[in-house]
Amino acid sequence: MATTKVLSVVSEIYPLIKTGGLADVAGALPGALAAVGVEMRTLVPGYPAITAALENGEKVLKLKDLFGGPASVVAGRAKGLDLFVLDAPHLFDRPGNPYHDADGVDWPDNPFRFAALSRVGAEIGLGGVKGFVPDVVHTHDWQTGLTAAYLEYDGRTRPGTVATVHNLAFQGQYPKDLLGALRLPPHAWGVDGVEYYDTIGFLKAALRMSDRITTVSPTYAAEIRTGEGGMGLEGLLAGRAPVVSGILNGIDVDVWNPATDPLVPTHYDAATPSSRRPNKSALQKRFGIKVDRRAMVFGVVSRLSWQKGLDMVLAGVESILSVGGQLVLLGSGDRGLVEGFRHAAAAHPGRVGVVIGYDEALAHLIQAGSDALLVPSRFEPCGLTQLCALRYGAIPIVTRVGGLADTIVDANEMALDVGAGTGVMFSPPNPEMFRAAVERAASLYADQPTWRRMMKNAMRTDVSWGRSAARYAKLYEDLVDERSS
Ligand code: ADP
Ligand code: GLC
Repeated sequence: MATTKVLSVVSEIYPLIKTGGLADVAGALPGALAAVGVEMRTLVPGYPAITAALENGEKVLKLKDLFGGPASVVAGRAKGLDLFVLDAPHLFDRPGNPYHDADGVDWPDNPFRFAALSRVGAEIGLGGVKGFVPDVVHTHDWQTGLTAAYLEYDGRTRPGTVATVHNLAFQGQYPKDLLGALRLPPHAWGVDGVEYYDTIGFLKAALRMSDRITTVSPTYAAEIRTGEGGMGLEGLLAGRAPVVSGILNGIDVDVWNPATDPLVPTHYDAATPSSRRPNKSALQKRFGIKVDRRAMVFGVVSRLSWQKGLDMVLAGVESILSVGGQLVLLGSGDRGLVEGFRHAAAAHPGRVGVVIGYDEALAHLIQAGSDALLVPSRFEPCGLTQLCALRYGAIPIVTRVGGLADTIVDANEMALDVGAGTGVMFSPPNPEMFRAAVERAASLYADQPTWRRMMKNAMRTDVSWGRSAARYAKLYEDLVDERSS
């Protein structure tokens, strides 16, 4: 069979620019898919961080006017990734976060910035770049949602389309009077088009018009068809159920490898878990808490937002301390949570350590040094930090939702009886159940042979992209077959 060619269109990509797991996934997919015979290239915006990293760039497409200025597509490599970079300085030549200014205010021209990315994605999909005519265009989240619409309304023979939902909470809704300015035809305005509760819905358009919809775990694929999880899109998603599926994310097991990780003080693996101990002391030192081998360290690496349920951790600090535990947290986001955690650290010196900010190296140290990693999300499409935690032997304490439910095996008595169990799972997400989960984890930790067994199970879990890469390859292949028959 000929290699399937896929254009991935995405608004952030690790290691060049990242605000969350979306970037990790976009950065890992091409390599993972190459191993199963899929050639993926990625179209990304020309933010300064990306254009600066591009090597041997070659202009492959010129656009006289892309929503207010000239633009071009530059093909090249950066940090091992094969990219098409949308060079449009009037839209993307701005430093910092890809979506908002330094004060956290969304760029007012976001609808045009991401419509531009989508429009160029469609153009390449239609053969705009000689030498890479994709069989499938794969978009991610609302930012690239209009790609499917531009392809649909173009009228020419189009490639297959796949839309992946990484997070349904962000939908990209803009005023309907932008329809013409966004170069969408009048007939796009309707329930079968881009119309969504009287606005233009970027994500809605992708979910309505893409040939396949995937999300990042099987459980989240089911949750988004319910009133509670669908966030207004449940009806549409339920109607399209035959083309909706869930494919779990993996992590890059070379970047996240405790046996070789340059960002952690001592290396270890499933066969040498005791070599992990110096990392715990280093972590305690780094956070300015008491260096104590016996204290159970609970770690957090997270965006601080309602989704992540960290208010439960804040409310549960006392329960962590009452089981003799310590808390270390790295995160940024909601002002209220930031203040709350700073206050908790000040109130419990030596036992609660908090770093506000984004710090890749510190994230690795937390994974390598904590005994348990807290991920009490209210909803979680997949979640990557619990996968890193498994690989690093930090036992995940998670809610029974989305990808957390699909990746962690709760260490209940029956599971332990058969030698299984990689984490502690609780439901529903509320402070009382969180407290109970902390207490259960602490009693498992007190039984060190059982805890070590769990660490081994966790570290032996396959969190690589292998399984899921094969699923994406099959999805593309089926789609190409279907469209050519
Ligand atoms: P989401 O994308 O919803 O934030 P994921 O678990 O899928 O959640 O991905 C989060 C990614 O961002 C992980 O790679 C995690 O290690 C990283 N991360 C989150 N917060 C921080 C932080 N404050 N510092 C460093 N890395 C972080
Ligand atoms: C989103 C989700 C997260 C997922 C990530 C990558 O940010 O919140 O659960 O792991 O996308 O798919």
